[in-house]
Amino acid sequence: MTASSDGFFGQYGGKYVTEVLRRPLDELQASFDFYMKDAAFLEELHVIQRDYIGRETPLCFAPRATELLGGAPIYIKLEGLANTGAHKINNAIGQCLLAKKMGKTRIIAETGAGQHGLATAAACAKLGLSCTVYMGEIDVRRQQPNVAAMELYGAKVQPVTSGSRTLKDAVNEAMRDWAANFEDTHYVLGSALGPAPFPDMVREFQAVIGKEVEKQCAERNIEIGAMVACVGGGSNSIGFFSPFLEKKEIRLVGAEAGGIGPGKGENASRMCGTAARDGILQGYKSRFLLDEDGQALPTRSISAGLDYCGIGPQLAALGRAGRIEFTSILDREALEAVSFFAKNEGILFALESAHAGAAAMKLAKEVPSGKAIIINMSGRGDKDVFITSPVFRPEAWGQFLRSEIERLDSNKDIHETTVLGGCLK
Ligand SMILES: Cc1ncc(COP(=O)(O)O)c(C=O)c1O
Repeated sequence: MTASSDGFFGQYGGKYVTEVLRRPLDELQASFDFYMKDAAFLEELHVIQRDYIGRETPLCFAPRATELLGGAPIYIKLEGLANTGAHKINNAIGQCLLAKKMGKTRIIAETGAGQHGLATAAACAKLGLSCTVYMGEIDVRRQQPNVAAMELYGAKVQPVTSGSRTLKDAVNEAMRDWAANFEDTHYVLGSALGPAPFPDMVREFQAVIGKEVEKQCAERNIEIGAMVACVGGGSNSIGFFSPFLEKKEIRLVGAEAGGIGPGKGENASRMCGTAARDGILQGYKSRFLLDEDGQALPTRSISAGLDYCGIGPQLAALGRAGRIEFTSILDREALEAVSFFAKNEGILFALESAHAGAAAMKLAKEVPSGKAIIINMSGRGDKDVFITSPVFRPEAWGQFLRSEIERLDSNKDIHETTVLGGCLK
């Protein structure tokens, strides 16, 4: 299912932008339509997916989880094994390659948790493009490991000091930059949302996940009962689900961030929550968490990647039509799922993906016997060590941080003369 010619999926989607952004969006649509039918482009993309991203990613049977949860066979799609640690690289590479074909030399991106920024910075380094990543000042402070990695890949991280200084403001700043510089610049939007053609384009670059699952299940005679993915903006879920939308016998389940509870400002549940309503924000119409004046409400989730007030328009439409079910997972349940799959399967889920893991744990007894549940593990949890360690081992982690500060202070002079004075010159 692609959007209508004016960018709508049913009642949601569209292209609500100022006149100045119409031209780059129309140019992008035309190039996307052309290159997605161009055999040479698709072959080049395929080779990068295989040799650089590491596709195809495994579909791993989870025997102990299956036994412990007492129901359906559970399989985990290990998207976290993709280079840079999450599915975000599928879209970043696709859009950066497309931008290069369009003659663009400069890439900009927004990022919240840093995963999309990291993937875009890596894709630019791989393809020889200059990269600027807009990131809210607050996110810059709380996601330092990803900021450091983006800089290592050669990207400029631009802190955003307007508004709430988080993801929503980073998107606004990136849009402003794009409007002023689209002659040589492409804006790599990180999820299946925003004005058309981004929802279609991001879905198509992420559909590689679902197509692989389809092939892997056919090869191994796995009959699917349900598929579960976490939903932030919606890119991993729509890419995972898209080849299965017409197969009505398969349940498709999206796990949203239930945060600390159902109250206003306590979660990021756009499809399950009570504060969600139809609205238009950041160039598209969808379900948003908004106040009475149509302003974005604060959201809350332990997983930075799900902590956003909007959802991609195609998912909103499919949710409204009843094709995709949504469920809300609390922070506490996501942490339990991290621990469960780490201890019983040796697989460390990202906090975002652990929302899908937790939803699957609840579903296991509901799926008819013999039919499998496939979980999309959208990213791996190494990146979350600064969030999970204070929960799982607070004392040891506190000691580690204090000793790191002491080590840095005592080594300051040596560091400046040897490292900065030497190899980084
Ligand atoms: C590992 C991981 N999973 C899921 C998401 C949510 O994004 P989306 O809904 O676009 O897949 C993010 C966002 O940063 C992420 O880093």
